[in-house]
Amino acid sequence: MNFQLTEEHLAVQAAARDFAQTELLPGVIERDEHQKFPAEQVKKMGELGFLGMMVDPKYGGGGMDTISYVLAMEEISKVDASASVVMSVNNSLVCWGLEKYGTEEQKQKYLTKLATGEVIGAFCLSEPEAGSDATSQRTTAEDKGDYYLLNGTKNWITNGSTASVYLVIAQTHPEKGHRGINALIVERGMEGFAIGPKENKLGIRGSDTHSLMFTDVKVPKENRIGEDGFGFKFAMSTLAGGRIGIASQALGIASGAFELALKYSKERKAFGVEIAKHQAIQFKLADMGTNIEAARLLCLQAAYDKDTHQDYAMSGAMAKLFASKVAMDTTVEAVQIHGGYGFVKEYHVERLMRDAKITQIYEGTSEIQKIVISRELLK
Ligand code: CAA
Ligand code: FAD
Repeated sequence: MNFQLTEEHLAVQAAARDFAQTELLPGVIERDEHQKFPAEQVKKMGELGFLGMMVDPKYGGGGMDTISYVLAMEEISKVDASASVVMSVNNSLVCWGLEKYGTEEQKQKYLTKLATGEVIGAFCLSEPEAGSDATSQRTTAEDKGDYYLLNGTKNWITNGSTASVYLVIAQTHPEKGHRGINALIVERGMEGFAIGPKENKLGIRGSDTHSLMFTDVKVPKENRIGEDGFGFKFAMSTLAGGRIGIASQALGIASGAFELALKYSKERKAFGVEIAKHQAIQFKLADMGTNIEAARLLCLQAAYDKDTHQDYAMSGAMAKLFASKVAMDTTVEAVQIHGGYGFVKEYHVERLMRDAKITQIYEGTSEIQKIVISRELLK
């Protein structure tokens, strides 16, 4: 791996940092408290090209590499993980999946609008009884000739009420197991498609997470992605890259909390000196800084593997497993370094601690990442 970031990488990183500080930081506490979706901010992210960063410019994207995406995700997640999960889902689950596996017609119809942020997308795999065990899809897509009849419920869908384009995974041939599953493009507003209430969450409270209900929704055949029965592989292949995005989100949450703790430790005095002069605090900072650096290297390694067309399922899973633990550990210590001030909202670290937890759960729990990693190691 080449460790030298290019001029372009540094420019993307600086632009994302500037956007996060000027557009996301003001109001982030209120959005979290009131569970307010960052609608205006997401619109601006689209205008700045953060929602289709890796998409080919001929479809309205930025044509950037995955390393640029990791750098931007880190900066945006330092400040607002509710905004960065919108970015992650749109870039690496929805746009990537459509660009890689969609037909030219699907790309023209959906990808161009998604890549520019004119509309946003959602990725719908999880169900009430199929989370980690994703092959146990209960949602059905019955083949009716020129359309699929979609029935079932999807759970926990990010961008659930704000998306316009939904990639929905459903079972068509139960007798074939996961090889009978399809991935369908469902549009908001299709008859029989209903959206449940917003979930009231521990963290990423600004992000809109909803259940989706499908009752006899007619989805045209041309909205199927890939061959009949390709849906599960579509989901797995797409998630392999998505995990690099969530790893970078975790990295950003950790480094955001670390920067705040570092600054605070040089300002707050106890026993006549700045708390940074106490070795117990210094050692916490040393551990936090070391872990974050290791997490960053794993994220960049996975991005590099993807950009250089190597297998990245394992490196992406390693990055997510490690960075999400670092996010959890670092944010807990950042609250500790802030003492009582860390426990109240104005100092940001309590929100970062709550936001960190989801990175160990979505896009495959930490236990699932260990399954992916160990299977690769034992191949
Ligand atoms: N690329 C392509 N195909 C893949 C693949 C990959 N990276 N990984 C697995 N597959 C294929 C396998 O080859 C296999 O197909 P064949 O039998 O035809 O060869 C098929 O997928 C099934 O694989 P497994 O036998 O390994 O399936 P399994 O039942 O043992 O499950 C699992 C594997 C890794 C546990 C998988 O179910 C999984 O990833 N679960 C977690 C689900 C998840 O991550 N959900 C996230 C939802 S999206 C989200 O969360 C978004 C958000 O929050 C923002
Ligand atoms: P379960 O699968 O029931 O797992 C429960 C526990 O058992 C976990 O600790 C798990 O690791 C463990 N476990 C399960 N199986 C094994 C095993 N074989 N070995 C060891 N341990 C195991 N999904 C989408 O499709 N799209 C989205 O946009 C989306 N966004 C989300 C946003 C939020 C805020 C949340 C909370 C979830 C979101 N999800 C989304 C769903 C998420 O991907 C699932 O919650 C996750 O995959 C875990 O599934 P589950 O909740 O059913 O837990």
